Formats: sequence, C-alpha cells, structure tokens
Amino acid sequence: MRLITLAMTNFRNYRRQSCHFAPGLNLLEGANAQGKTNLIEGVYYLSIGRAYRAARDEQLARWESEGFQLQATIEGKNGKTGVSVDYRKSEKAAKKIFVGGLRLEKIEELSGVLTSVLFSPDSMAVIKGGPQERRNFLDYDIAQISLAYSRNSQKYRRVLAQRNALLKKIGLSPMGKKEKEDRLSLWDQQLIDYGTRIIARRQTAVDKLTPLTRLAHRKLTEGKENIEIKYRVSTKDKGGWDGRGKSDEEIKAVLSQDREDFLAEDLRWGSTQWGPQRDDLEISLNGVDLRQFGSQGQQRTGVLALKLAELEFFRGESGEYPILLLDDVMSELDKKRQERLLGFIDEKGIQCLITATEAKDIFSGRKDGLKRFVVKEGSVAEG
Ligand SMILES: Nc1ncnc2c1ncn2[C@@H]1O[C@H](COP(=O)(O)OP(=O)(O)O)[C@@H](O)[C@H]1O
Ligand SMILES: [Mg+2]
Repeated sequence: MRLITLAMTNFRNYRRQSCHFAPGLNLLEGANAQGKTNLIEGVYYLSIGRAYRAARDEQLARWESEGFQLQATIEGKNGKTGVSVDYRKSEKAAKKIFVGGLRLEKIEELSGVLTSVLFSPDSMAVIKGGPQERRNFLDYDIAQISLAYSRNSQKYRRVLAQRNALLKKIGLSPMGKKEKEDRLSLWDQQLIDYGTRIIARRQTAVDKLTPLTRLAHRKLTEGKENIEIKYRVSTKDKGGWDGRGKSDEEIKAVLSQDREDFLAEDLRWGSTQWGPQRDDLEISLNGVDLRQFGSQGQQRTGVLALKLAELEFFRGESGEYPILLLDDVMSELDKKRQERLLGFIDEKGIQCLITATEAKDIFSGRKDGLKRFVVKEGSVAEG
C-alpha cells in the first residue's frame, strides 16, 4: 500500500496543503508544534475514519473554520484510488467519507482501503497503559483489515449501549429480579452472539501476532529474550480465561456464565460488567509481566517488536504491507534499534512517513530512497 498524495484543508493547523510522497522513506522535519503530528494524524484518520488521539472531529477543524477536508490518492494491489473525508460542523450528517468518488454509507466500510500502522511515543501505552489501550491496539488493527469485524463491533457497541440504558432504568427499580432478567434477555443473546465473534476474531489475531512478535523480538534482542502475548477474557475469576484454541460454542458458554455471574452487579452499577469491552492482553517477557517488571528499555523493545509484527500481520491478512507512520520515535531508539528498524523497512520496501525534530544523525549520508520535507507553521515544503 502506498500513499501518493495527501491534501488537507482546514485540518488542524493546516489551511491548505498538499504533499506528494515517495514510495520509500519520507522524512518530515521541523521544530516542535509546527504540524508534523497533525499530518500523521491526517493519514491515520483516513485509515480508521476518526482521530487516534482522544480528539473529536470538531477539534480537528482549524480554529474558526467550519470543517475540514482530507483527500488522499493511494495505490495498492487493487490499483489506484482516492479516499477522502469531508467534515462540516454545522451539518447533521457532519462527516462524509468517499472512496473512489462514492460516498460510504458507514464509516466501518473504510476498513482495508488505506491501511497504516502508527508508531509514536504514545504506542508505549500498549504496555504501560490500561486494558483499554491494549484493546484499542487489537481493535484498530483488526478493524483495518476486516470489514466483518468492524461491522460486528459496531453492532456490539449499539446493543451494549441499549442494554446499559435499560440497566440504568430498571436497575434500582422495585421490579422483581425475574422480570428484570426477562427484560434484559432481549439484548443478552445478541450481546453474547456479537461478543463471541469479537473474542474469536481477536483471539485469532493474537494467535497470529504472537509468533510474529516473538520472531521480531528475537531479532532485536539477538535471541536472548522471549516475549509472549495472551488474550484474556475477563471473567469472575480474577485470572481471566484463556480463549486459545476454544470454539465459538465454548466462548459463548463462558459469556453466558458471565452474564449470570454479573447480573446482580450489572443491575447495581447500571452498566454491563462483562464482555469483550473488558478483556485484556497479557504481554510477558521471559515469563513475567512486561508492564510490571520490564525495564524501560525492555518495554521499548517490546513495543517495537509489536509494531514490526503488526506490519507482517497486515501483510499476511491483506497481501500487502501497510503504510508505516513513525511519529517522533526515531530519537527514542538507540542507534542499533534505529538501524534494525530502517533495515527492515528498506528490505521489505515499506512506505514510511517519519517525523523528527532533528534527523541529521539518523539519516546522515543517506541520499537514495529518502524524500525530505520541512514542516513549518502549518505548511510543508519539499526540502
Ligand atoms: N484545530 C486546530 N486548529 C489550529 N491549530 C491547531 C489545531 N489543533 C492543533 N493545532 C496546533 O497545531 C500545533 C501542534 O501541531 P503538532 O502537529 O502536534 O506539532 P509537531 O510538529 O510538534 O508534531 C500546535 O501549535 C497547535 O496549537
Ligand atoms: Mg509531534
């Protein structure tokens, strides 16, 4: 997958900007707060149909403007196509997304059109952050390659919201337990069905990511350390439940049991305490939790290995490498890791957008296959 052009209008601090990218490495240099991350965010937005930073669409529109547009030309195994988004604050259907000139009915349909993997200092949250971060990591990935997953997740979220609304309404009402259960059962079967598909798909993804991560990690550490990822289904039992090798029926049975076990709590809290929105990933190094016991350096290498695995995972699923977005991470890696990463990108012919404040050290002496841009005050110039 290759990004050929990107045009931004009133997006973040860009008034009107278009860029033409090279197939290999694209280096975006500039001081702080000039718009480097904003540009990366623009590309990523077109992958998932929303911002990755906890930002709402209206925050992305340049201050005092009515909306924003992003437009990209991409080339992939299915040829060249255009993908764009047009957001207007004042309109009811505020966001319109187009692929090949046709408007998408749902954002989820963007899945697989422009695939990208993002690596930024925030990526450390996969290891250091809470379960939500790890679920996002999986969900963003799977949603980009599986339209079915995106649709199913959307349905799950809708049913979950409805069940939660009902829990709030009847939770503390004097209605009998049996009646409450009957009213909830309307949503429960759907929640279990959609939930099972989410868990099964995530589990399959983890089954594929695990060996890829281990391989990348062995290369980065010269085979000295062993990283492992496990998907944990949240259950009453604190340790959680390992979904590896389990059939859909077995997953369903666990969710049905959860539904029963958590009923009293669900009613008390007015929200659903079980299901894939509470699951987690366990990332361990040499058998111990990387988050709790890993050094800063080990955690960083762990994240890098995960990112390299993501690239391979995408290729395995979709037949081509995604676009790699490296925002401000080069300077955080030591010389050896930088070289390994660049070596990997070169070898696989992955297109990459790299931002840096100071890139002299990293790319000194490199002339071939590197296109330079200078980012300054919301404007990008080829340098
Ligand atoms: N909606 C917006 N409208 C105008 N400027 C914005 C908007 N959102 C962020 N900015 C500006 O963008 C700049 C940060 O850009 P960013 O891409 O994060 O910088 P960096 O080059 O350091 O990565 C800040 O100066 C911020 O004020
Ligand atoms: Mg930045």
